[in-house]
Amino acid sequence: MDLFSAPAHDSARQRVAELTQLIDRYNYEYYMNDKSLVSDFEFDALLRELIDLESQYPELSLPTSPTRRVGGEVNKTFRQVAHRLPMLSLGNTYSIEEIEEFEARTRKLLDGIPFTYTCELKYDGVAIGLTYRRGELVQAVTRGNGTVGDDITSNARTIPTIPLKLRGHFPADFEARGEVVYPFEAFEAMNRQREADGDEPFANPRNAASGSLKLQNSAECAKRKLLFCMYFMMFPDGGEALEPQFGTHFGRLEAAKQMGFKVQPYIRECKDITEIKAFIDHWDTARWQLPFGIDGVVIKVNQTDLWDRLGMTAKSPRWAIAYKFKAERVSTPLKEVTYQVGRTGVVTPVANMQPVWLGGTTVKRATLNNADFMAKLDIREGDYLLVEKGGEIIPKIVGVDLDQRKPGARPIAYTQVCPVCGTPLVRAEGEAGFYCPNQDGCQPQLLGHLEHFVSRKAMDIDSLGSERLKMLYDAGLVHNVADLYDLRRDQLVGLESTTLVRNQESALGIDDAEAKALPRSATIQEKGADNILKALEASKQVPFERVLFALGIRYVGEVGAKKLARYFGNIDALMAANVMELAMVEDVGEVTAVAIFDYFNNPQHRLIVQRLKTAGLQMEVVDNRISNVLEGMTIVVSGTFDHFSREEIKTSIEQHGGKASGSISGKTTYLLAGAKVGPEKLKKAEKLGVPLLTEEEYLKMIQGSEQ
Ligand code: IVH
Repeated sequence: MDLFSAPAHDSARQRVAELTQLIDRYNYEYYMNDKSLVSDFEFDALLRELIDLESQYPELSLPTSPTRRVGGEVNKTFRQVAHRLPMLSLGNTYSIEEIEEFEARTRKLLDGIPFTYTCELKYDGVAIGLTYRRGELVQAVTRGNGTVGDDITSNARTIPTIPLKLRGHFPADFEARGEVVYPFEAFEAMNRQREADGDEPFANPRNAASGSLKLQNSAECAKRKLLFCMYFMMFPDGGEALEPQFGTHFGRLEAAKQMGFKVQPYIRECKDITEIKAFIDHWDTARWQLPFGIDGVVIKVNQTDLWDRLGMTAKSPRWAIAYKFKAERVSTPLKEVTYQVGRTGVVTPVANMQPVWLGGTTVKRATLNNADFMAKLDIREGDYLLVEKGGEIIPKIVGVDLDQRKPGARPIAYTQVCPVCGTPLVRAEGEAGFYCPNQDGCQPQLLGHLEHFVSRKAMDIDSLGSERLKMLYDAGLVHNVADLYDLRRDQLVGLESTTLVRNQESALGIDDAEAKALPRSATIQEKGADNILKALEASKQVPFERVLFALGIRYVGEVGAKKLARYFGNIDALMAANVMELAMVEDVGEVTAVAIFDYFNNPQHRLIVQRLKTAGLQMEVVDNRISNVLEGMTIVVSGTFDHFSREEIKTSIEQHGGKASGSISGKTTYLLAGAKVGPEKLKKAEKLGVPLLTEEEYLKMIQGSEQ
């Protein structure tokens, strides 16, 4: 539905069709066949043209358009949807004997009927079900509890290996099930970026895949490089299952490949237990070479007409079973325990061990997590440690090999001082680990502090990454955030990095050869220096609330900083506040209030704030109110607009005294509806009797107020 645009001309209609076809083909070749038919630049230009045409003529924008891959739809909550057929789980086992039993039992139950098995990988990700009607993706749902899951369609559309439109011959109505996985390389890159942005990294690729599918903004999901591995095709209405190519599981996946699904090439048809065991043996070691995680192998009866005959146990089908790989485990001598200081001052003990081959890599270091973990293991000098590697990349210490402990071995005492700066460590009450309290003098903490300051959600100085900050620090140019604003061009040009910076993971157990080492020398050129100075200059416009967040006061996050900024209005009032006054602010508890008070009572911090103020950073809330014409109104914005971006129109609402909100409720005054307004929003507005407002009407409302 569109409130402004003229009906599409035939020429536009034709161009949209052409562009769609071209882009679909380029996407297909790129993601399915690893073939790049055009340059990124050309591809982007075509996509841009299609996006523009679709926003001009919204009636031409179909749910299967390749522009949907870019995302942009926002889901505050995910609708719960019942699965048409339950999403079952499989019986699983770690024992080869049980696989032999499964095979013998199946043969016995089928009593002489000829049949085969398929063996395939058990992907370690998140299961989803995709419904296709007349060749179009109409719905994507997570497994949930097996009966009801979350509708994640808009996020699923952004995954390039999920076809939006099928090719060739396809059943009219079916469901494709599979696993969304996060390939290792993309996972590591994303986590590095998160750390640089000051966000908590994901613990493993599975959690990251799951978190990505639940992102509220599908444009964010589009940036995650997720992969969909299809492993199952089913027909809720039964009919098509009778067509011959759908008579075997293998045939179904072959057919799916022809329809445009990316089916992993690792499936094999096996005729007996010997072939099944060979498949398992192969992948038990070959798994470490895969670009994504698997945690086992799935064995299914290939002939789908036998599935009903074999039936179900209480929870899982009798025609399939999962063999799960045991985590690989080795025992290796501990050489010494060293300690790492993180960006926030937290000290992590690391076990340095005799190098040992484990799951495809040499392991020589692994984290001992914290003081409590070490105490629980009761590690002694000369002990052998038990190290495991499961489906994931990072080796884990799971215990001490007590059989090899020497009599009288002495316990290892936890360090009492910071390994970097020598400051006595402290332990916050109830916490598992120690930290170094020397925030302003301990190198990793200083660097962490600088990284936080320049990060996207803080001052957003993206020309200063962690490597450059380290260069500036090593050169003695920057020791605190205020020093950044004293940098001169002549100091920057020609500055070289000589140290080899490794990321944290290498120290925590990834083999050296795998560790991503940054370039040995990276000189700052003239253009780079100009960019840094420009970005620093631009950061002087960053609003006060973000400057406050950037200071990195313990416990003061983005939201807290916003509330403090609004409450006190400027830095002087905030610095003058006592603990009681600070605790008056919504969401500021006593612990945070004390942390803020302590921060500003430190003369060094006061000096830094003073220097930042002199440099021209925003130290007060700027009242950018234009009028009060929208006072008391709550306006929900949806769709695209001619005169504003979505963010701009929200800012405009606030500048005129209104409140911009994301979801419609009984309290909503208007739904400000642009082109491509969300159909769910329209429905809800109608249901609750919330009136619509067009962009033109909105402009009239606020223009009147300015005269
Ligand atoms: S078949 C009824 N095949 O493992 C059969 N499952 O408990 C449906 N999984 O939740 C599952 N890789 O998410 C099948 N190649 C594969 C699989 C696979 C991973 C997951 C699936 C399910 C669990 C089995």
